[in-house]
Amino acid sequence: MKKLILTLSLGLIAGFAISQSAPQQRQRDGRGQGGGNPIYRALDANRDGVISKAEITNAMSALLKLDADKDGKLSSTELGRDNRQGGGGQNRGTQTSSTRGGGGRSSSGGQIVRGIKMPTPLFRTEVPEHIYDIILGKPTKTAVTASVLAYQDLHFRIGVGTEPDALGKTLNIGLLEAGIPKEVLIDGLKAGTQYFYKLQYGKSLTNLNESEVYQFHTSRDKGDSFVFTVQADSHLDFGTEPAVYEQTLKNALASKPDFHFALGDAFFSDKRVRYQDALDQYIAQRYYFGLLCHSAPLFFALGNHDGESGYRDNGRPENIAVWSAKTRNKYIPNPIPNAFYGGNTSVHPEIGLLKNYYAWDWGDAQFIVLDPFWYSGRGGRDGMWAKSLGKKQYDWLKETLENSEASYRFIFLHYLVGGLDNQTRGGVNIANLYEWGGKNSSNEDEWAVKRPGWEKPIHQLLVQHNVSIVFHGHDHLYAKEELDGVIYQEVPQPGHRSGNTRSAGSYGYDQRNVIGSSGHVRVAVTNSEVKVEYVKTRVGGTELTVSQRRYVADSYSVKSLNIKP
Ligand SMILES: [Fe+2]
Repeated sequence: MKKLILTLSLGLIAGFAISQSAPQQRQRDGRGQGGGNPIYRALDANRDGVISKAEITNAMSALLKLDADKDGKLSSTELGRDNRQGGGGQNRGTQTSSTRGGGGRSSSGGQIVRGIKMPTPLFRTEVPEHIYDIILGKPTKTAVTASVLAYQDLHFRIGVGTEPDALGKTLNIGLLEAGIPKEVLIDGLKAGTQYFYKLQYGKSLTNLNESEVYQFHTSRDKGDSFVFTVQADSHLDFGTEPAVYEQTLKNALASKPDFHFALGDAFFSDKRVRYQDALDQYIAQRYYFGLLCHSAPLFFALGNHDGESGYRDNGRPENIAVWSAKTRNKYIPNPIPNAFYGGNTSVHPEIGLLKNYYAWDWGDAQFIVLDPFWYSGRGGRDGMWAKSLGKKQYDWLKETLENSEASYRFIFLHYLVGGLDNQTRGGVNIANLYEWGGKNSSNEDEWAVKRPGWEKPIHQLLVQHNVSIVFHGHDHLYAKEELDGVIYQEVPQPGHRSGNTRSAGSYGYDQRNVIGSSGHVRVAVTNSEVKVEYVKTRVGGTELTVSQRRYVADSYSVKSLNIKP
């Protein structure tokens, strides 16, 4: 016991030393909430940058949570020092790459890339030390998948139940090797049911720590109300402010969504000198998604900067498209086609199932995630007609819409298939063009010539099947637009440092209708209507209450198809 008290006292002293220098540290890092020091983060329970009297009183139990092996001591591994000294190896890709870069926060900051001096840090991939993260995925009527990634070799168990304080069922996950995510199927569940779960973890099975209680919901019945949330373009580049992104994810968690969408541009493997250097960004996104997705299954839609462009797949076993898809599928648990999910059944020889487009029904709604990247060409002589879902995905979309009787249909993708130029910017201003709308830039109908054998342009297909909302990203702002009864919802960034709308006009948006980043879109579905809200994120200072860190900047409703006006 003496050893325990002595060790904890040293920990407290270290914690106070850090708290006193925290403002300077935050300033240097450009972020708040204690930077990456695990003692400080453990003590500062409300993450307001100050260790309060109540937090000091609670210090003993807060520090004990870091004691992964329950030996009464905090080892250098438990404090994350091994990684800081470059000895962590597989534990933390971000820390390793930071050490390699020599600059502390970026693998490439300040470098000359393609002749341009890049800002420092170029990528915001350093994240706070943590023992594990969880990303839920693929919820069905009777199961959910937990992707668990530990940063030390640890034994794990999951306790699951329908009451938060009575988790009757225990699943043994076994020993997880540091740095290697494992997908754990939690099955045998009841449909339409709220579940709670806890992780138990430790260096041995005889002395286990317990996580906080997390939650998830199995599939909803028709008529049930539920919430889902959407973000786009988290980037983690020099424009990202980590504290803003973290707050956006916490704001989304407060709505207890059944699931969460991320609409691409999360990994940026096409922005690195070597695409493999983006590994730290996949691992950093595990931390960020993990702040929300331990209790909200994640659905990921590809973005143009996620490396997975089909034309980059040159047929060799190693290229950026293959590496990016394999890495995404290792870290992100997207659905595969089965009895609950429709999707892409093609097997890539190097990757297996791409998990790039998929659909499912949930309550009164149908959800369809599309991929405009794997089947698009470079452009060239075919111009913007080279952008395509591909015939197989198009036919699948048509069939998926035809086979659902859902009252609401929601489409999710990074950007519309087409655009005025290769940047593929815009919403309804480009929805009449190319594969999305059938016309060329001179407003001439080229559909039959360019897509022989295809029934109709994508927008017309969506109109025919009463699609409620197309959620798209890429343009980094909030804009609600409507065309032929279909709402086109441009989704803002979750963590941009300024969130201006200067580019809205050149992207084709009506400047009067746009709101800048950062935040997320919250959608509440009931049997009579869908309510959409733009929840903006506010950070800064310690004076803000939890509720002041989020506010609704815009909202609108969509009536159910079953409710006649
Ligand atoms: Fe983009």
